[in-house]
Amino acid sequence: MSSISLRQIKKSYAGLDILKSVDLEIEKGEFIVILGPSGCGKSTLLNVIAGLDDCDAGQIVIDGNDVIGLEPSQRGLAMVFQSYALFPAMTVRRNLSFGMKIAGTPKTLIAEKVAWVAKLLQIEPLLERKPGQLSGGQRQRVAIGRALVRSSSICLFDEPLSNLDAKLRAETRVELKQLHETLKSTMIYVTHDQIEAMTMADRVAVMYKGQVEQFAHPQSIYEKPASLFVAGFVGSPAMNFLDGRLDSEARFVMGNTKVDVSEYIFDKAPDLAETMLGVRCEDITVVNRGAPGSLPATLSFIELLGADALGWFDCLGKRFSVRLAVATARAMPKEVGLKLDIAKASLFSVATQRRL
Ligand SMILES: Nc1ncnc2c1ncn2[C@@H]1O[C@H](COP(=O)(O)OP(=O)(O)OP(=O)(O)O)[C@@H](O)[C@H]1O
Ligand SMILES: [Mg+2]
Repeated sequence: MSSISLRQIKKSYAGLDILKSVDLEIEKGEFIVILGPSGCGKSTLLNVIAGLDDCDAGQIVIDGNDVIGLEPSQRGLAMVFQSYALFPAMTVRRNLSFGMKIAGTPKTLIAEKVAWVAKLLQIEPLLERKPGQLSGGQRQRVAIGRALVRSSSICLFDEPLSNLDAKLRAETRVELKQLHETLKSTMIYVTHDQIEAMTMADRVAVMYKGQVEQFAHPQSIYEKPASLFVAGFVGSPAMNFLDGRLDSEARFVMGNTKVDVSEYIFDKAPDLAETMLGVRCEDITVVNRGAPGSLPATLSFIELLGADALGWFDCLGKRFSVRLAVATARAMPKEVGLKLDIAKASLFSVATQRRL
């Protein structure tokens, strides 16, 4: 177990700022997920931590020691790359055991660990094959296995499950999480899959354009997104948004429509400038058209999801998703009212893009 501090890490390529002052304090044994859209700098950040790439400025402190300038091999971490980087001429068994052999691990222990990880990742039948004889998903599992057998105190994963089919992905996700409970190593896991982030992380760092937008427990990222970007990126379907402004009587005003927001708990003193109101699909109730405090809406279509359903409504010129019970969805009239649960909603300043 190791703690990792990233302090004001900056990196640019050809004059473009790819990492713009990233700060993260990761505690010993934490499972951290770095979540963000393609191109936001996730792999770059991981490579900088691993020492595969230099940063232009900042400090990386592992267990109290600044590791900038140290070779990757001196940093005591194992990494699974976004591209698998297996040795093509070696069998799967040798790919798995190579690192341990170099480190002088006794033969019996190597054999034990290879057997353990092969069973865990369901690659036992593949041990004598070479990477060229494996599918993408199988290669990816070998790459994960190779990092796991090293029992490092820090494991870095760069989208390790992206090539697995849905079932194997879900299984491996659970395995990795359980493995973390057993190994208790500090893990930094990069993904753009929010289900992985929500289910695996102790804390999630949401990255956007080279910056950490929010670093918090997955539930608070979901319930109290710190910025408009986080609100729109996390959650499926995406959060519903309305634009308007606040008035001095704790109402959110859109043209002639006013919504009482007195139940909202403000993080910051509200201003009366342009504001976005965001509500998740499960925090909206369908009521009769004209019911007090409701917004007029017209049903556009219903998506049946099996366990429940999504109703899509046109409301004040926006498309709104509302989570519904299947029976309710089936009997849904066309013209309805929508009531927003303001205590669970989010308000954002348009000027700063931050949560109010
Ligand atoms: N060696 C390089 N030279 C120039 N630009 C680079 C280099 N490596 C990465 N970049 C740029 O830096 C940005 C961030 O890349 P990075 O690989 O860190 O993104 P990412 O968040 O991992 O994306 P993805 O989810 O697609 O893997 C991208 O715009 C990319 O084009
Ligand atoms: Mg990447």
